[in-house]
Amino acid sequence: MAKKGRILSGHRPTGLLHIGHYEGTLRNWAALQDDYECFFEIADWHALTTGYAEAAALPERIEQIAIDWLASGLDPERSTLFVQSDVPEHAELFLLLGMVTPVSWLERCPTYKDQIATLSDGAGPGLGLLGYPVLQAADIVMYKATVVPVGEDQLPHLELTREIVRRFRNFFGDIFPEPDAILSEFAMVPGVDGRKMSKSYDNAINLADTIDEVRQKMRSMFTDPEKIRMGDAGHPERCPVFVYHRMYNDPSRVDEIKAECESGDLGCVDCKMAATEKLLDALGPVMEMRRELAENVDYVYEVLRDGAEKARSVAGQTMAEVRAAMSLDSTS
Ligand code: TRP
Repeated sequence: MAKKGRILSGHRPTGLLHIGHYEGTLRNWAALQDDYECFFEIADWHALTTGYAEAAALPERIEQIAIDWLASGLDPERSTLFVQSDVPEHAELFLLLGMVTPVSWLERCPTYKDQIATLSDGAGPGLGLLGYPVLQAADIVMYKATVVPVGEDQLPHLELTREIVRRFRNFFGDIFPEPDAILSEFAMVPGVDGRKMSKSYDNAINLADTIDEVRQKMRSMFTDPEKIRMGDAGHPERCPVFVYHRMYNDPSRVDEIKAECESGDLGCVDCKMAATEKLLDALGPVMEMRRELAENVDYVYEVLRDGAEKARSVAGQTMAEVRAAMSLDSTS
């Protein structure tokens, strides 16, 4: 079957992935594999742009994210899964795209402004951090990706990628397509404290959690603060547990739960237990597969090595075109 185009997307290896990542990103990526030729990249160089002092933690984080990805249904038979630093061509393309990228575009980038506000190293932002979107553009255009599934926070980087592609084309010709972003369906998954699920809030349910840990975290989840006692009328729209019913329970049951909560007939303890069982029905297989993969990391590294080889073969072809277009092939 002809595919609709080529996808590249990626994620920095920042640690264990949680069900917010799964619902917001990974499920979407896994579904796109049917229709697109997909490249998924673990962006370890991007992680270094702010986390260079924690470089020693990268191997462990790369292993974790690779396991999370495979458990979530990214399929090495259909997609290319690789680690960015295994494809050094990305560094060369980053350098060359940097030639046509005005610094003023990068200084204006909202993610850059946010990041420099949080830096603790007194030396100030590194060249690598300023160039973050250029490296991301290199990742994308290296594979001539036409579609990039990302969250909203990445849209400024996609816009910059398109601008860099246009500027490159003016000088050196039409090698790269302008990629379109497709937004992951927005899923605000609440963490156990009701805020957006995030590693930094320490409120996450991780794909690597055991079933007991999931049950325990779900038991501790915040509920409607006005529903204190069994029998009190609740407000499902304000309750994080109700979001879980929406995500994982049968649609007909969701309406009943809403009514039973509002009337006070359904207590929070029972409500949480029901949500937990539905969550485990949906994600139990992912978590189980994650456990199996974690015991078989040789397979995981084999996937990443194969992926790097496939990625390098595409990257090598692209770089040959780029070098020729930029007249850098006179001695080859
Ligand atoms: N910047 C992305 C993030 O933080 C990660 C990333 C790196 C990426 N290269 C990419 C995403 C290329 C999409 C395409 O999540």
